[in-house]
Amino acid sequence: MKLITKTLLAALSLLPLMGNTASAKEQIVVETENTALVLTVGDNGRLYQSYLGKRIANAGDYASLPLGLEAYLTHGMEDYYEPALHINRADGNPSTLLTYKSHSVTACKGGKETVIVLADPVYADEVALHFVAFEKENVLKAWSVITNKENKPIELEKFASSLLSFHSPHYYLTQYNGNWASEANATTQELHFGKKEIDTKLGTRANLFVSPFFQISLGAPATENSGEVLVGTLGWTGNFRFTFEVDNAGYLRVLSGINPYFSRYRLAKGESFTTPEFIFTLSRNGKGEASRNLHDWARRYQVKDGMGDRMTLLNNWESTYFDFNEDKLITLIGEAKEFGVDMFLLDDGWFGNKYPRHGDTQGLGDWTETANKLPNGIGRLTEEAKKQGVKFGLWIEPEMVNPKSELYEKHKDWVITLPNREEYYFRNQLVLDLSNPKVQDYVFNVVDELKTKYPDIAFFKWDCNSPITNIYSVYERNNQNHLYIDYVRGLYKVLDRIAAKYPNLPMMLCAGGGGRTDYEALKYFPEMWVSDDTDPVERIFIQWGYSQVFPAKVQCAHVTTWNKSASAKFRVNVAMMGKLGFDLNLHDLSAKDLAYCKQAVKNYNRLKPVILDGDQYRLVSPYEGDHAATMYVGKDKRKAVVFAFDIFPRYGREFEKPQHNVILNGLDANATYEVREIDREDCTVGEAKSYSGDYLMTVGLPLLSYNRLRSKVVELTRK
Ligand code: DGJ
Repeated sequence: MKLITKTLLAALSLLPLMGNTASAKEQIVVETENTALVLTVGDNGRLYQSYLGKRIANAGDYASLPLGLEAYLTHGMEDYYEPALHINRADGNPSTLLTYKSHSVTACKGGKETVIVLADPVYADEVALHFVAFEKENVLKAWSVITNKENKPIELEKFASSLLSFHSPHYYLTQYNGNWASEANATTQELHFGKKEIDTKLGTRANLFVSPFFQISLGAPATENSGEVLVGTLGWTGNFRFTFEVDNAGYLRVLSGINPYFSRYRLAKGESFTTPEFIFTLSRNGKGEASRNLHDWARRYQVKDGMGDRMTLLNNWESTYFDFNEDKLITLIGEAKEFGVDMFLLDDGWFGNKYPRHGDTQGLGDWTETANKLPNGIGRLTEEAKKQGVKFGLWIEPEMVNPKSELYEKHKDWVITLPNREEYYFRNQLVLDLSNPKVQDYVFNVVDELKTKYPDIAFFKWDCNSPITNIYSVYERNNQNHLYIDYVRGLYKVLDRIAAKYPNLPMMLCAGGGGRTDYEALKYFPEMWVSDDTDPVERIFIQWGYSQVFPAKVQCAHVTTWNKSASAKFRVNVAMMGKLGFDLNLHDLSAKDLAYCKQAVKNYNRLKPVILDGDQYRLVSPYEGDHAATMYVGKDKRKAVVFAFDIFPRYGREFEKPQHNVILNGLDANATYEVREIDREDCTVGEAKSYSGDYLMTVGLPLLSYNRLRSKVVELTRK
């Protein structure tokens, strides 16, 4: 026994080939302006990741690199750590060996795509590793395509999008998790030997408990402006899994992909499986730079209408819930006009007749207007909106059904629900089976029929309030473990059809708050609702969390009556750091507050290009004390805006010494800026003062105090 252990240990210590220098047959360098990923073909024909780090000026130097760890580790061979790929074959052989076959590099929008084809010399299966390098933004995408070239079906047991390896004395993982109304809280831990997994098994409302992104600091915890940090996220609107494994030699492997949980996937002869995109950036100047890389990339290449404008809005959810009628909505449309926003958004509760949607217990699935609430249909509302000069948006939740609905009565076979079991409901509803093409047609038709009947609907809020419960599909019959994956693919098929027919139709991605927040969905949705929690204090934390990966432009932020101890100004200022909207009645506001809000909408419209399209700098972290501050700098550095918040001083803090200045960032050091406080409660503007960019980024501004729930907005204009 002892002998076996000793032999095994000896074998393991020899295992990683990182000590050997690359006697490379082939070296493939994937580069952005600042980052390089170097892959080397070893003498044995297998592919190794030799390097991921700062781009080296002379590419020839990469030849001196040690070989590194296998780039796409497979199950069943001599490396015992978590594999990227595990194939089960018809003859019972569960192993795969991949050797290099060929590679190609082609130009694509924003950069270059490298495809490396690997194949099993015995079993003929092929794996193509795809890497897209976005040169200027220093962002990379990685995914794999697995093709069954055997004569018999194969079964994929594990199928990661990407495997990256690192070697550093310390690794610190920051993850973002929470719950409904408390999304994206940051926690950091050091990783030691062993495995840490972050995953979700919720299916539809997949990100309810955890966001699909993480940060790994190398060596020491990265700060906003210093430290080496990898930020990664998976573009998949379903179950994901990130695995972080530190091995016996201190190497860290990061595997990202679809969660293989209950998802063994059969591939018939000739079929391919494309894994979702893992998107990452590596910064050596801290988390702030990493975020800005991703924000730039997202606006330019990923998000639907990423470079376009966004509409401010008035939503009725918080002010009416299900209790409204035509008159109330017409009043609210008038109020949207009064606020000066671009659109009125009608939320949940407008549909269902046999089972009118007067609460969340019934009606989902029956998308016709409730006659006694809206006797003249949506048409009367779009007409009123037109008259007032605002756009009209509508809430839908087309993937779901209430058991109390005509749809459920007619099409139980379209519902994901288990035979021979009592149904379990999440928010009194069930999920429709989008793996079924008939259900895909139905969901597409919800949008298509509404748009055909009411072409003036200018926007949809697409909600999704339930995870997949009672998992079983009538359609998938003998392939139940395809359902989680085929569901997401079915959803994309529907969204592709909507995008093809209505290319300019904006939609908000929503899943009971931030239950869906991934970059693949954002190809179809220009914006997303990150949380139902609109308490401005909580929102400072939530928006801080999402901003690590997503630009302000995609984060909808609404002013509501949550936390009335915060002034209207404080609540509005927090919402101004995202895509501004309101979700309250005019009578929730005093005349003074209403005047303030109208001014704020004007200020926001003026500063939108800076906030939504500029560079974001997180200046003071709410996690570090009583305050928070964030600034946005226009791309040409002519305009900037700083939002500073005093959140919660403890008793007696007001007697303490004055607060530290907020040190600004991202300005032109040699320029002079005129600095003014704007967006004041009494609608006045502060006295203009001039400072050099250098001064502002070295000495900073006294924007913080020990007052409770006080905010300041400062506009900077280059002279
Ligand atoms: C959950 C969403 O997050 C809310 O904004 C609202 O649309 C409700 N659903 C409606 O049911």
